[in-house]
Amino acid sequence: MNRIDLEGRVVAITGGARGIGYAVAQRALNSGASVALWDIDGERLARSQRELSALGKVTAVTVELTQEAAVQHAVAQTVLDHGAIDVLINSAGITGGNGTTWELEPEMWRRVIDVNLIGPYLTCRAVVPQMLKQGYGRIVNIASVAGKEGNPNASHYSASKAGLIGLTKSLGKELATKNILVNAVTPAAAKTEIFDSMSQQHIDYMLSKIPMNRFLLPEEAASLILWLASEDCAFSTGSVFDLSGGRATY
Ligand SMILES: NC(=O)c1ccc[n+]([C@@H]2O[C@H](COP(=O)([O-])OP(=O)(O)OC[C@H]3O[C@@H](n4cnc5c(N)ncnc54)[C@H](O)[C@@H]3O)[C@@H](O)[C@H]2O)c1
Repeated sequence: MNRIDLEGRVVAITGGARGIGYAVAQRALNSGASVALWDIDGERLARSQRELSALGKVTAVTVELTQEAAVQHAVAQTVLDHGAIDVLINSAGITGGNGTTWELEPEMWRRVIDVNLIGPYLTCRAVVPQMLKQGYGRIVNIASVAGKEGNPNASHYSASKAGLIGLTKSLGKELATKNILVNAVTPAAAKTEIFDSMSQQHIDYMLSKIPMNRFLLPEEAASLILWLASEDCAFSTGSVFDLSGGRATY
């Protein structure tokens, strides 16, 4: 595997305790970065921090990302621990289960928007002033092919990810002359613990839509995510990069 140049960079990863965020942390450490994991699951976070520390400097903050004050604290703690935040990866997310739009409860609909869209808005809002001070930054938002195509029985999730794509495009333009680049990736299904919150019927539906006829591997997601998080990514911002095995039609 090639080495992405992240030497000396500080990478903050929401949802870094497991799944795609964990794979990103692993690859970032193997690429010379130090890492701050931000996740709501304190127990899993401690375990992941222990495991990943074999590869380099890893700090962890237990944080509910929908809470503005908690997010501000995570940023302050990370800057204290590492001296900077060069890269922000917004990977934390939930599915909210599956059901038709008229069956899903308003409470769950709001919760999915809160975690998947308001959460990244709050982290960007808290981290960008630090990046502006540094004169450098890379932000990568983990959206979903569902945000481009709209999955049936997941209107809350699809809408939250479409919103995240919109946030990426706006923020990318706002920061275009500041050496802070903001991009999104749109994965198809990757077999992580997030599958536990979806119906088998929905998982089968997602697989049936992927021309490569297999699931995305978290490591494959980390490759693209961390290239976008590197200095090599220099003329792309406010953009959406496909990770859907051929499913995306635009
Ligand atoms: N795995 C897939 O099939 C797939 C496909 C497309 C997009 N995505 C997106 O990729 C991202 C990562 O997915 P994953 O498969 O690694 O999921 P995962 O469930 O394995 O990990 C998500 C992590 O986010 C954390 N988290 C959830 N809500 C939080 C909150 N309010 N505050 C702080 N942390 C919170 C969880 O504790 C967990 O550790 C998500 O945004 C997901 O929507 C995943």
